Amino acid sequence: MEKRVAVLQGDGIGPEVTSAAVRVLEVIARRFNHTFHFEYGAIGGDAIDRYNNPLPAETIALCEASDAILLGAVGGPKWDQNPSELRPEKGLLAIRKHFDLFANLRPVKAVPSLIQASPLKESVAKEVDMMIVRELTGGIYFGQPSRFTDESAVDTLVYTRPEIERIVEKAFELARLRRGKVTSVDKANVLSSSKLWRQIVDEKKQGYPDVEVEHQLVDSAAMKLITNPSAFDVIVTENMFGDILSDEASVITGSLGLLPSASVRTDGFGLYEPVHGSAPDVAGKGVANPAAAILSAAMMLKYSFGMETEAAAIEKAVETVFEEGCFTADLAVDDKKLSTAEWTDKVVDELDLQFVSNSIMFSYV
Ligand code: IPM
Ligand code: MN
Repeated sequence: MEKRVAVLQGDGIGPEVTSAAVRVLEVIARRFNHTFHFEYGAIGGDAIDRYNNPLPAETIALCEASDAILLGAVGGPKWDQNPSELRPEKGLLAIRKHFDLFANLRPVKAVPSLIQASPLKESVAKEVDMMIVRELTGGIYFGQPSRFTDESAVDTLVYTRPEIERIVEKAFELARLRRGKVTSVDKANVLSSSKLWRQIVDEKKQGYPDVEVEHQLVDSAAMKLITNPSAFDVIVTENMFGDILSDEASVITGSLGLLPSASVRTDGFGLYEPVHGSAPDVAGKGVANPAAAILSAAMMLKYSFGMETEAAAIEKAVETVFEEGCFTADLAVDDKKLSTAEWTDKVVDELDLQFVSNSIMFSYV
């Protein structure tokens, strides 16, 4: 297959981790006879510096001409005092909205070799395998009116029926491919938007009798994520609750540096980015953990290009490298800390090895 990938490296560690992901995708292309064209565009603080706009028209045009978007991270202290229109985060919100990327998928899966890095007891963390489905283009992030003065400030949490229906359907469909359980998280004891959300989940579940459904209030869900995280399969929730719960869930696995994400719509187009941010404190030092960016690239292969085998090859390689005790600084327990490039070399070597052993297997049959 031939695919065009828009690479938006962004700020902080964004360039380092996306470069690692591109290296891995190049190996996949070589091994599986695909052609990936990588074209680079600006977003976030980098785009503010170069275009005075966190999401320039050039970047939108590039993404529109591409099959998928690979993104690093946005933000940093340099732009913290900027007016709200010139904040890096605006670029990220605008690209999600422009491309209608309403479904944000954030898988959280315990890796046995990393359990020692989890702040939770091994017995609690070890079976964790959940998919957080976060609504990404509605809710309080985008509701109008939104205004700020020194005397008062307003944010608006609004959801329409079609916005809720499509994300809830997405969650039910995903649950069918997993363990068949959906936990819908809301604040229906207080918020009107949550009451509608809960009502629509109950309507939709009629069409999925094979899926088990439960409702949880967000405060209690935050608590259960820590006390009994392995009870969750698919969590579906609105934009801001999903933002908060996914950061919470991510540390169960040992490091925020491990979590990939996909932001997709129904036609397969998507944006793929690590859940972690731009980490300005370690940026440019070559020490960032590229696992989340590499696993985001794997999600791109799976969800946008239908390349399941290729995606699985990357996931397997990442897991094996961890099993071999190779870690970047965020996870290393002793002083055996690999740099971003060294750790990526290990994943590349592992992919090459997989390919060699596969061809040996083939030559026997
Ligand atoms: C995320 C981030 C963004 C969000 C920020 C950077 C705007 O925290 O992707 O989770 O809140 O959605
Ligand atoms: Mn977040």
